[in-house]
Amino acid sequence: MLQNALLLVPLLVLVCCSQQNRPIIGIMTQPREDHPEYGSYLVASYVKLFESAGARVIPIHFDSTKEELLHIFNSINGLVFPGGGSFIDYGHDLFFPNSMYLYNLTIEANDKGDYFPVWGTCLGFEMLHIFASEIFDRTVLSSYDAWDISYPLVWSQGHKESKMFSGLLQDHRVFDDLSKYNSTMNYHKFGVSPETYKTNTKLNEYFKILATNSDRQGKEFISIVESKKYPIYAVQFHPEWPIFEWEESANVAHFQEAVRGNSHFGRFFVNECRKNNHQFADKHDERRRLIYNYKADFTVTTTGDVQTYYFPKK
Ligand SMILES: *[C@@H]1O[C@H](CO)[C@@H](O)[C@H](O)[C@H]1NC(C)=O
Ligand SMILES: *[C@@H]1O[C@H](CO)[C@@H](O)[C@H](O)[C@H]1NC(C)=O
Repeated sequence: MLQNALLLVPLLVLVCCSQQNRPIIGIMTQPREDHPEYGSYLVASYVKLFESAGARVIPIHFDSTKEELLHIFNSINGLVFPGGGSFIDYGHDLFFPNSMYLYNLTIEANDKGDYFPVWGTCLGFEMLHIFASEIFDRTVLSSYDAWDISYPLVWSQGHKESKMFSGLLQDHRVFDDLSKYNSTMNYHKFGVSPETYKTNTKLNEYFKILATNSDRQGKEFISIVESKKYPIYAVQFHPEWPIFEWEESANVAHFQEAVRGNSHFGRFFVNECRKNNHQFADKHDERRRLIYNYKADFTVTTTGDVQTYYFPKK
């Protein structure tokens, strides 16, 4: 009895309190339909949001093999599906099926007690809704008139008790930063309606709605969700924009409240990534995959994003 208890103590310490303080986040790259000469791309501001919160980033090439994806999944501490314009249904390139493969690995891992977090922004938000609905097509999405517009968040009931925001009660300013000013930058023509949750029980059981907004026509869309069961989080707006994107004509806020409020999302997610011990077995393998191996192009005049990584075709 005593012996068993003694054996249990170090195990509990290991499970509950050890922190991964060198977290690495994998961010999915996307095909660039308008530039077939490039293999894939990743907008640098997604990288910066998580780097500035204490993580390193590796790009996950959307057209990798399953073996490669599995190897990376087992070696990183969190996964990000960024925004963009890629197809999020079957019948196109490998972006959607490979994203779903990584999502499936995430669910499997968490069901086995391996705490593996996922973040989705904009297109990533929409894609996570497609996965969670288990319909695997775009019927859970609606059209919105919310291209290039910033909003103050409208909090949903219970948001302060969420995983995403309960740690903030000491720093109450962030709630105001995000909901008293036009701090959250929206750039979407699709989205998910709270009405859809009423008819889709899968989504309703899966996600808790933390905030909403309404588009130019007054049509309500969901702005933030977190999974009730898994460490899976998604935002329809772009937290990386107020901090890292400088396209002059964009309706984006750069005042200090917007910067402070949006940086919460990077810090929150990186802290989630500290909670598992995935790592690269081989440091050489880790080093050769890190984003530092690539040079970002200055693209503000061509794409509207300040910096973009273009990855060569394999
Ligand atoms: C992911 O899991 C779903 C549901 O179990 C399954 O239908 C789908 O084929 C899987 N997809 C991939 C790419 O593993
Ligand atoms: C947000 O911007 C809109 C115009 O786009 C303006 O009417 C509104 O007053 C602004 N809200 C806040 C809280 O600044």
